[in-house]
Amino acid sequence: MCGIIGYVGPRQASDVLLDGLKRLEYRGYDSAGLVVQRDGDLQTVKCQGKVHNLADLVAKNPCRGQIGIAHTRWATHGAPSEANAHPHLDCRGRIAVVHNGIIENYEALKRGLTSRGHQFRSETDTEILAHLIEEYASKMPILEALTAVLKDAVGTMGLAVITVDEPGKIYAARVGNPLVIGLGTKRDEFFIASDPTAIIPYTRDVIYLDDGDLAVLTESGVETYSLDRVRRDKKIESIQWTPDQIERGKYPHFMLKEMFEQPRVVNDCLRGRSDLATGRAVLGGLQEVAERLRTVERLIILGCGSAHYAGLVGARMLEEYAEIPTECHLASEWRYRRAIVDPVRQAAVAVSQSGETADTLGALREAKNRGLLTLGVVNAVGSTVARETDAGVFVHAGPEVAVASTKAFLAQITAFSLMTVWLGRQRRMSAQAGARILEETSLLPAEIEKILQQSDRIRALARKWAHASGFFFLGRQYNAPTALEGALKLKEISYIHAEGVPAGELKHGPIALLDRSFPVVALATRDGAYVKMKSNIEEAKARGAPIIAVVNEGDEEVVTLADDIIYVPRTIEMLSPILNAVPLQLFAYHMAVARGLDPDKPRNLAKSVTVE
Ligand code: M6R
Repeated sequence: MCGIIGYVGPRQASDVLLDGLKRLEYRGYDSAGLVVQRDGDLQTVKCQGKVHNLADLVAKNPCRGQIGIAHTRWATHGAPSEANAHPHLDCRGRIAVVHNGIIENYEALKRGLTSRGHQFRSETDTEILAHLIEEYASKMPILEALTAVLKDAVGTMGLAVITVDEPGKIYAARVGNPLVIGLGTKRDEFFIASDPTAIIPYTRDVIYLDDGDLAVLTESGVETYSLDRVRRDKKIESIQWTPDQIERGKYPHFMLKEMFEQPRVVNDCLRGRSDLATGRAVLGGLQEVAERLRTVERLIILGCGSAHYAGLVGARMLEEYAEIPTECHLASEWRYRRAIVDPVRQAAVAVSQSGETADTLGALREAKNRGLLTLGVVNAVGSTVARETDAGVFVHAGPEVAVASTKAFLAQITAFSLMTVWLGRQRRMSAQAGARILEETSLLPAEIEKILQQSDRIRALARKWAHASGFFFLGRQYNAPTALEGALKLKEISYIHAEGVPAGELKHGPIALLDRSFPVVALATRDGAYVKMKSNIEEAKARGAPIIAVVNEGDEEVVTLADDIIYVPRTIEMLSPILNAVPLQLFAYHMAVARGLDPDKPRNLAKSVTVE
């Protein structure tokens, strides 16, 4: 979704802004723009389309100046166009605004502003902010004007503002949408960004703004305030991610790179967290709420998309091995549902790679309002979910750039397996049972490696099936969520219709779609559901559907039914989604490439979904 970068310091601002916008491209966008301030003037360049188009325009018409703000826009109000791209200016062109989020009452505000003579140049909700600041700033200093505007505007806002009336200053505000401030290593330059990846090459020292924070950046420092303009001192934190982690390196796509990182990612998630001697998982992030967790009798897992599917796997693990009744819900549904919760005996677990997904955050805040203990299973360390949960487990997948989640999904399930052992050992899980699960997790990196080595074979399969118009992905029990994930991966990046079906449901409706032209990907590894899966495969085959089966090495039964086979190593059932997901990711990737699509930039999608 939309991205923001701002800079003040000794460099040419446009260089830093364009570089930052390139690093934000992965979030998904349709237009881009920047504004640089110099000598009482604002120079704005905007365009529909890619950041390289913007860079070309800037090259033809250089913007010189050492302070500026920039934006990549993912259209919500008004089509993608140059006019609707940010920055937006007030009537006199003296105030420039970039904004992430949505202003819910913008129509009423716009009517008022128009009746008072303001002229609008775009169809966006954001433009009202520039005009509102203009009105207030005629009567008061900008900081005060900004707080007044934030009271009038209802919605979510990550905001950066510059004005020629107060040169050398970037004003920033966070109401809902994340913003991070970067402090240059020599403290002579400062950055504002919607996402730390935009500023990693320049600095690792950051201040995460919390909801309701305002900031003023100049080349000599940063001041932070509450919405009532009371000074707030904020902690300087250090970003652990390195610049090479956000480079594509030798890989043609980030998605491929991130899939091939998975053995290391799972290893990083496990590192230092398994105590085989006691059969315990070592999760420092849960320790401080250990006593509250001991008495929890129900867990409610909340997430969206792939994070939700990882949560579905986690729920099964927690129920079977930690013996805690666990529900997993779509955050977007649960947040508005009048669920009956018991704050004493229940806890909520928010799962999110980015830690910024609006619906997951909404559900988390709802859970908090209802008095639940909240835990996070999160990848991005300084993210809002990580900061707003009471405790949690970081999954340590490193930055995930490709829109289609791969390594974060595997790391989330790995983290759930550790949580299962941690919580299980608080309850009735024996040391031996804990140690057995931990031992099996330690084998996963090498097993994933083995599957990745089949990438070329899976590419050949993808080429064979690249013209199919629809797919079913079938799985049962632990692998019912894996089937949902396999279908999501395929549809997101190859635009082929795909449905994940818990295989027992096939004959309750979906089977009507099957014929010779409708391939079925069946997850049929050796587990408690194997025999039932075999019957479901028979049912699909009887309708003429081609079968692509994912089976364990040495399988002798399902292989006789399938048209194509993908082998995966055998692990314990609760961990099998971690292995079974990998060939499905590869399949989706190679399908997209075979169809001439860019898997890293799927149409209509954004990496971090920060609006509802
Ligand atoms: O950052 P999050 O884990 O909260 O994101 C949740 C979903 O938006 C995300 O998993 C989405 O479904 C991906 N595109 C899946 O590949």
